[in-house]
Amino acid sequence: MGNYANTKVYGTMLKEDKLFNKSEIINILKDSSKNDWLFKYADKVRADNVGDAVHLRGLVEFSNICKNSCKYCGLRLENHNIERYRILIEEILSIVENAVNMGYKTIVLQSGEDSYFSKDKMIEIIEGIKKFDVALTLSIGERSYEDYKAFKQAGADRYLIRIETTDRELYKQMHPNMNFENRIRCLKDLKELGYEVGTGCLVGLPNQTIESLADDILFFKEIEADMVGIGPFIPHPQTPLKYASSGSFELALKVMALTRILLPDINIPATTAMETLNPNGRIKALQSGANVVMPNVTSTKYRAKYEIYPNKICLNDKPEKCRGCIGAKIESIGRKIATNYGFSHNKG
Ligand code: 5AD
Ligand code: FES
Repeated sequence: MGNYANTKVYGTMLKEDKLFNKSEIINILKDSSKNDWLFKYADKVRADNVGDAVHLRGLVEFSNICKNSCKYCGLRLENHNIERYRILIEEILSIVENAVNMGYKTIVLQSGEDSYFSKDKMIEIIEGIKKFDVALTLSIGERSYEDYKAFKQAGADRYLIRIETTDRELYKQMHPNMNFENRIRCLKDLKELGYEVGTGCLVGLPNQTIESLADDILFFKEIEADMVGIGPFIPHPQTPLKYASSGSFELALKVMALTRILLPDINIPATTAMETLNPNGRIKALQSGANVVMPNVTSTKYRAKYEIYPNKICLNDKPEKCRGCIGAKIESIGRKIATNYGFSHNKG
């Protein structure tokens, strides 16, 4: 793997023979004059380490019921202004089958923290999905070691659980009744159980500092994340943060680009939240370090109800439309769609 620190543009700011340290990351995040350089640099690191193929992961949003109260999230328990739904096993499997027929090689099952989906219910769903020839990612929040172990044994391959922010004070403010240590415990358990582990953060939360974003990036490196998803915070009108300002697309892109530079061979999605703030956001992300897209494969009738933040893209679209749309966009920038399962290169 190349050493990317010896670069002319930041020559005066970078120590030789090592990747960016915290103060260098902070300088880059604060200095907008070299953004183009940063994005091109991350794009090259991406091309050199994970190649040109873009992995598509079909996202199934199977329940919007959540017992948590994250201040930023539209699915929070206190939001009585959404119609709650839960998709049961037969329908989940038919959604998955449809996605497989469209060529998806990875399915991502995402939901709020919905206690209805007990360990046994999840095992049934996982086993059902694994009968199709797909890699399976879960994104269902904090569970016990025993649950994670059972899901792994049932066939789950990967798990997404963003740390959201490594600033403990901010974490506490944003997540009443949750606890940072338990979040870390989940990440450690998942690693130990042999999952490919995805994490990530929100960019632009109220009171979030540039320094803490630098810590977030270093945290991804420290825990040896296999995947990192980064998205701008978008205020939801039915949450306590409704009057907060939105995160910046550009800053989120910079955090993502730096993550690529520090973790050259991981999988990084061009996130839906980026596209929500910028009509060409996912393509810009794919050209600034990202190598994954997670198109929604959930049936159209549920989409508007999975309103984590407002103005989510593709709310009225069918899974087939999203697949065609993103495929064409990816090809228009000279990239190709991966035909393999897209396991992480970050192994060993
Ligand atoms: N804006 C942007 N992203 C959000 N998420 C939750 N709420 C918001 C919001 N208001 C993100 C969190 C979570 C992921 C599923 O969605 O980072 O991990
Ligand atoms: Fe559902 Fe936070 S409110 S995960």
